[in-house]
Amino acid sequence: MSAISTPRTSPVSAPRTYRVKSFGCQMNVYDGQRMEELLAHQGIAPAPEGEQADLVVLNTCHIREKAAEKVYSDIGRIIKDARREDGTQPLIAVAGCVAQAEGEEIMARAPAVTMVVGPQAYHRLPEMIARAVDGERVTDTDMPADAKFAALPKRRSVGPTAFLTVQEGCDKFCTYCVVPYTRGAEISRPYADLIAEAHRLVEAGAKEITLLGQNVNAWGGENGKGQKVGLDGLIRDLAAIDGLARIRYTTSHPNDMSDGLIAAHGEVDKLMPFLHLPVQSGSNAILKAMNRSHTAESYLRLLERVREVRPDIALSGDFIVGFPGESEEHFAETIALIDAVGYAQAFSFKYSPRPGTPAATMDDQIPGEVMDDRLQRLQAALNRDQHAFNQASLGRTCDVLIERKGKLPGQWLGKSPWLQSVHFQGDYGVGDILRAELVQAGPNSLTGRVIAQNA
Ligand code: 5AD
Ligand code: SF4
Repeated sequence: MSAISTPRTSPVSAPRTYRVKSFGCQMNVYDGQRMEELLAHQGIAPAPEGEQADLVVLNTCHIREKAAEKVYSDIGRIIKDARREDGTQPLIAVAGCVAQAEGEEIMARAPAVTMVVGPQAYHRLPEMIARAVDGERVTDTDMPADAKFAALPKRRSVGPTAFLTVQEGCDKFCTYCVVPYTRGAEISRPYADLIAEAHRLVEAGAKEITLLGQNVNAWGGENGKGQKVGLDGLIRDLAAIDGLARIRYTTSHPNDMSDGLIAAHGEVDKLMPFLHLPVQSGSNAILKAMNRSHTAESYLRLLERVREVRPDIALSGDFIVGFPGESEEHFAETIALIDAVGYAQAFSFKYSPRPGTPAATMDDQIPGEVMDDRLQRLQAALNRDQHAFNQASLGRTCDVLIERKGKLPGQWLGKSPWLQSVHFQGDYGVGDILRAELVQAGPNSLTGRVIAQNA
């Protein structure tokens, strides 16, 4: 992380609950949801209604004048409201466009703020939180300032894309990860509740539902006929909902990729051709030390089987560099795995020792400079593949679900089935499904040429 870090007062205990307050546009709401997903995967739970949170994220909007001033008054109120009996304060992160534009000033003016995170740095929040817990103040606005003006939604609704949490907790005990300790065992929400909630989301305007869980593919339940079903069964039944056009799920564990779920990728049209399947490392020695209970080979075989039934599937993963004991040779195996897979996108993190996890006390912790260097090389390989994936999409015809207005007048942004951002010029609206040809590819998004509207 190219973050600016300044000393803070004293270390605090790791946050157990969060509240993300999103202001402004739909993109911010979406970003807020993504941050919530990320925090939940770290084992931090949403603070119950009316209760103080250990971590407050102010996902700010720069669209109105004096927005920054509002941030300061919000910070003041949070501190006042959240003061606990023991005198501790919550960790406060300022995110969004105000953070991007005025991060340094926020840090200077508001000593209670522990993190400033720009809109392009959200994925690094877990690492920032770890540093904040250790007593640092961290700023990561590692992108040119970019006022993200976007339109408000046309109507009050959940928007065209909605998240639906189906599963929580984790039994896997990867040695670096706090989730099994903080979130406890895997729990699946009941089938009937999920089907009912999905109907409600669709009635409220959702055209795409993303099923969420820390180990989403470990979901299991009993369907209306009293039969035991896995995530594939749930997906098949959700696919029967009229008006629901797309289904996605995240995050999966390789060990829970059942035969049925793989088959569903070939058979359920509404299940989008995208699979986020974290691997963490390409070295079997490191995977063993991580307690991942899969090997690089078994992971690659899984992907092959998914590709057999859905050849165009876009693959995504999570990577950790600098796990204790990771040698240059181990790291080279990770790069080799990346080369073999050709990811469409991925998340990558520097290993961060989490108190109470086995890896935190392992020998041979890797120095920060080595991690920085490896992360850079890893991200170069991932960026290259993302670019190649986008290039290879040119000429494809697909449906794009419009999620929001773009920055330019008349510009609209949506997602391809492969979760690529696609933009268009024209007279469209949020929630439209456009049949489009992908005609131009940049590093992070594509341009679409519309063939038909509301396909
Ligand atoms: N250090 C670095 N990355 C971590 N992740 C989880 N725990 C840690 C840690 N201690 C990453 C994993 C996981 C993603 C959500 O966060 O890659 O898949
Ligand atoms: Fe953490 Fe591993 Fe469980 Fe994912 S599978 S939540 S990384 S312990």
